Amino acid sequence: MSLLREKFQASFGLENIVGKSAKMQELFKLIHRIANSNSAVLINGESGTGKELIASALHNLSPRRNKNYVTINCATFPEGLLESEMFGHMKGSFTGAVCSKSGLFEVANGGSFFLDEIGEMPLSLQSKLLRVLENGTFRRVGGTTDIKVDVRIISATNMNITEAIAAGNFREDLYYRLNVVPITVPPLRERTSDIPLLLEHFLMRFSKKPRGISHEAMEIFMNYPWKGNVRELEHIVERIVLLSDREVITPEDMPDEILQNVRSLGNLPDINDETFDLEKLLEKIEKDYLMKALERSQGVKTEAAKILNLSFRSFRHRLQKYGLK
Ligand SMILES: Nc1ncnc2c1ncn2[C@@H]1O[C@H](COP(=O)(O)OP(=O)(O)OP(=O)(O)O)[C@@H](O)[C@H]1O
Ligand SMILES: [Mg+2]
Repeated sequence: MSLLREKFQASFGLENIVGKSAKMQELFKLIHRIANSNSAVLINGESGTGKELIASALHNLSPRRNKNYVTINCATFPEGLLESEMFGHMKGSFTGAVCSKSGLFEVANGGSFFLDEIGEMPLSLQSKLLRVLENGTFRRVGGTTDIKVDVRIISATNMNITEAIAAGNFREDLYYRLNVVPITVPPLRERTSDIPLLLEHFLMRFSKKPRGISHEAMEIFMNYPWKGNVRELEHIVERIVLLSDREVITPEDMPDEILQNVRSLGNLPDINDETFDLEKLLEKIEKDYLMKALERSQGVKTEAAKILNLSFRSFRHRLQKYGLK
C-alpha cells in the first residue's frame, strides 16, 4: 500500500471501510466503542452496503483478533447441512457421517463467528443458536455431551427481522439476544458525500495509472440512485477502468444504465439524504427544463417558452434568475 493511500485511509476510513459522511463517521465511532466488548452485534443494511466489511473490522479491532474469525452464510446451506456445519456431528449420526467432525462453533472458540443472512436461518436451528447465546453450550448432531465455547456472535441481515418475527419465521427471543448492539448501515444514496471518496478508492484499486473524473461525470455519479450500493459502484468503476484508457473519466465512458437512470425524474434524491434541500432541488429541476427546452427550440426563446407552457415574460424571468441568456 502506498503512503498516499495509507494517509487517505487513515483520515477517511476504518480498516478497509471508506467513508467521510457524518453517518459513516458515526458508524466508525460506534465500531471502535464496541470492538472491545463481547456483546452480540446485529448488522442491518441493504445489499452491498458493507456489512461483511464491518463484521470483519469488528473482529480485527477486538482483543479476539489473534483467534479465528469464522463466517457462514445461513442462506447457502440446506437445513441439515447448516446444522452440522455450525455445530459439528458424531460418527454415524446421519448417512454419510463416516467420522465425527467438529463444527464451526468449535473452530471459532475464543474468536468471533459471523452469521451472515441470519434471517434465513431455519426455525429449528434458531433454538439451538439461542442456547449458545444464553449459556455458551451446544451439542454436536447426534452428540450426547454439551460442548462449551466462548465465541462472539456477529450477525447480519438485509431483511426486516421484525416482519419475519410477525410472520412467525424468526424467534423474537433470539432476535433480542442477537441484537444487543444494533448497527444500521445507511444506503449509499443517503450518504452521497462518500461517493467521490469511494470512486477514488476503487480507481486506485483497479487502475494502474492515476485517473480523474470530469465534473459532468461526477455530477452523474452523485445523482445515480445506487440501488446496489457500494458493491454496484465498485463494479462500475472496475468496468470503466477496463473499457477505457482515458485519464479523465467523462460521461462517455459511463455505462448506459447509469446515464439513463440519472436522466429520468423518477430518481430524485431520497428525502433521507443528508444533503437533501428542496429549494435547491426545485431550482435544479427548473434549470434543467429551461435548458432542455432551449435545446429543443435551438435557442429560439418564444418557442422554448411554448414547449414549457409558460408565457414569454415568465420564461425570460426564469432565465434571468439562473443567469441563462
Ligand atoms: N465503505 C466501504 N468502503 C470500501 N469498500 C466498501 C465499502 N462498503 C462496501 N464496500 C465493498 O463493497 C462490496 C460489498 O460489500 P459487502 O460484501 O460487505 O456488502 P454486504 O452488505 O455484505 O452485501 P450483501 O447484503 O449483498 O451480502 C465489497 O467488495 C466491499 O469491499
Ligand atoms: Mg454480505
